[in-house]
Amino acid sequence: MSHQAQEQPTEQSRAERENHATRSLMDDVARILIDAQAIQERVKELGRYIDEQYAGKDLLLVSVLKGSVIFMADLLRAISIPHEIDFMATSSYGASTESSGVVRILKDLNQPIEGRHVLIVEDIIDSGHTLAYLTRILEARNPASLRIVTLLDKPERREVDLDVDWVGFSIPNEFVIGYGLDYNEIYRNLPFIGVLKPEVYTEPQEESCGQSTSPSQETSE
Ligand code: PRP
Repeated sequence: MSHQAQEQPTEQSRAERENHATRSLMDDVARILIDAQAIQERVKELGRYIDEQYAGKDLLLVSVLKGSVIFMADLLRAISIPHEIDFMATSSYGASTESSGVVRILKDLNQPIEGRHVLIVEDIIDSGHTLAYLTRILEARNPASLRIVTLLDKPERREVDLDVDWVGFSIPNEFVIGYGLDYNEIYRNLPFIGVLKPEVYTEPQEESCGQSTSPSQETSE
């Protein structure tokens, strides 16, 4: 067997591939809506509010997968009081691009929340259906308190009433990606919140089982 047949990628070719992948993501960004520094500053502020609000209380942060993982990871490090964390995963029923308003739980909490102070951590609130449903089922478990912190809010898209306690940024009705938010499960690793070029999501896409083409990210245009 020739050594050529076993040729391994060189460091240079690996770097080139990574560079190309990064360029591709940026190519699809129409503009940066909220830069990484502004996000970090706001997350630190939110952490301070939470410190003040929950001092001396039994706090449980509940991250709603997957979009909120980056926000959750930064937020919990901006909180200095003791607390625990847990995760839930939800999905809308159906593959339609229109919101059904029906949510199902893919992963529930690992623990009871009765008597505890629960803070739901979300990346974005759009129609509000996900959190309206989640707050309904979590309230039924009798927590001492149940509040919501979201990095982003799209008030124009709201379809149901929802009390949101802390909002990082209120944003216009544009398709945003980055800092945990995806389109077709891609772009979550961008360090900023960017607006996706419309031609990316108006081009025919292969069906995805993720939520990335969900109505929560559809524009009304
Ligand atoms: C997003 C977001 C919220 C939900 C908000 O999740 O993280 O959970 O949509 O939309 P709503 O207010 O219209 O209910 P998505 O379904 O995109 O899943 P992901 O977090 O796994 O990307």
